[in-house]
Amino acid sequence: MTINETIQVANSQMPTIGMGLWKLEQDQAAKAVRDAIAIGYRHLDSATDYANELQVGDGISQALAEGLCSREDLWVTSKLWNTDHRAEHVRPALERTLKDLQVDYLDLYLIHFPIALKHVPHDHHYPADWLYDQNDPNGKMQLDAVPLSETWAAMEEMVEAGLVRHIGVCNFSTGLIHDLLTYAKIPPAVVQVESHPYFTQEPLLRLCRERNIAVTAFSPLGALSYVPLNMAKATDTVLEEPVVLTAAKRLNKTPAQIVLRWGIQRNVAIIPKSSNPERLRENLQLFDFSLNDQEMVDISALNRNQRFNDPGEFCERVFGAFHPIYD
Ligand code: A2P
Repeated sequence: MTINETIQVANSQMPTIGMGLWKLEQDQAAKAVRDAIAIGYRHLDSATDYANELQVGDGISQALAEGLCSREDLWVTSKLWNTDHRAEHVRPALERTLKDLQVDYLDLYLIHFPIALKHVPHDHHYPADWLYDQNDPNGKMQLDAVPLSETWAAMEEMVEAGLVRHIGVCNFSTGLIHDLLTYAKIPPAVVQVESHPYFTQEPLLRLCRERNIAVTAFSPLGALSYVPLNMAKATDTVLEEPVVLTAAKRLNKTPAQIVLRWGIQRNVAIIPKSSNPERLRENLQLFDFSLNDQEMVDISALNRNQRFNDPGEFCERVFGAFHPIYD
């Protein structure tokens, strides 16, 4: 099965494999991004919340200054944080991201979570996090009553202003996607959600396919990112599943390459993160082999609806606030 190196996003082509930037340390980010572009990455998945956009921006501008590629060759995604959902906060939030990333426009701007939190002025604390006051040991999450339709309308204005080429959402359920489609003047170009063999998200993928919305899978390798955060156990890794190991042996590829290839062979984009240059390279090399139909079926059958990134769970555990967004 041939899978293209780009995926259709509205009237554009987005590179199928992106570099995930969540948890990339500030002191490594500039070099990691520059080096990733040097080895062929053309899609960067950033977010205000990752607290490294300034350093990612340094990496991008270094790569552009070296002539490794042009701005037009890059696909740069970022995300609006929960504290900037009110209409009047969307443009300033985007402008800060553009300034930090040192770009004039984004290819894609996403609503990071369907949760509006009380606005934190940027000169008070930037980037804001889940808690309203980071310095208060008893700090709480504080919700704000902002309908997603208000935020979406402000996102649409950013397209009309030429600051972003496409807009979309992250961490939305099928119900919220249905609702968004009822009021969107510009339909979402991309939905970004967690997906891996333990969490295949078939209904959501099918809904998006039928509505011409591209899907980007975050955490395409599953548990690995979450073990150090105590959000998964080491034994939750999909990389040791016999069907993955057997396919890896047949194709002479690593288990990670098998799992990532399964991801792109479902016609979704993937954004694996690695701070290791060898693994970064490995994660790009997915186009010279393919899984057969049986391997696709067997890997998909590993699904156990296991979500690792669930604010309803971690916000309660870490911040004592129960605000589930999934049933
Ligand atoms: P590291 O940064 O040390 O390479 P995901 O993007 O699915 O959340 O996965 C990210 C996690 O997976 C990180 O812990 C990363 O570790 C690890 N990882 C990324 N690529 C590979 C790979 N090719 N093989 C094994 N582990 C990987």
